[in-house]
Amino acid sequence: MNQDEMKKAAAEAAIEYVENGMIVGIGTGSTANHFIDLLADIKGKIDGTVASSEASAERLRGHGIPVMELNDVGTLSLYVDGADESNKYLHLIKGGGGALTREKIVAGASEKFVCIADDSKLVDVLGAFPLPIEVIPMARSLVARKMVAMGGSPVLREGFVTDNGNIILDVHNLQIMEPVHMETEINQIPGVVTVGIFAERPADILILGSEAGVKTLT
Ligand code: A5P
Repeated sequence: MNQDEMKKAAAEAAIEYVENGMIVGIGTGSTANHFIDLLADIKGKIDGTVASSEASAERLRGHGIPVMELNDVGTLSLYVDGADESNKYLHLIKGGGGALTREKIVAGASEKFVCIADDSKLVDVLGAFPLPIEVIPMARSLVARKMVAMGGSPVLREGFVTDNGNIILDVHNLQIMEPVHMETEINQIPGVVTVGIFAERPADILILGSEAGVKTLT
């Protein structure tokens, strides 16, 4: 099984969490795309979706799946999304696709967050994947200096603008030993919109596709 097949297997397992009449929060990325494509087969079962990016909204609409505004629907029962890394506590790094702010909003508005990935994403310590931070453009240098002071090596994601009109700094060389603490600390820096550590609100369930089949961590 290749990596993409493992992602698809995780997405298939997540379909089991979809119940009649739900409005489902939808993540962003290649694994979330598998979930969207599988959701199309059971679209009559759900009332609609809330998307975490323009790209996912477009894919959902392409399947004829209704996309709603979060402000119109209140709390979601289920959010399904991928991740760039997870530790065994289901603290995540997200934002490789640049959609971290809306992803964190939808995750925060959801009762259950099911994270889907291939098993290469499970790590002992977060940080080998460069940590994405969405930043207001005028704060780019300030946030970069603060990240250097924290031991990181920030790199501007060239030619990329988020759905919210901001930039992304990808911070290399961090070993995130205390994800909740670091998430809080980076959130305090003026100009930071969202840091891609999802630890204050981790995933509730992690479904990993692997050579040996699908594994579920809670
Ligand atoms: C999007 O901003 C990210 O948080 C994605 O969830 C992450 O990059 C996972 O992407 P893949 O599913 O493509 O690996």
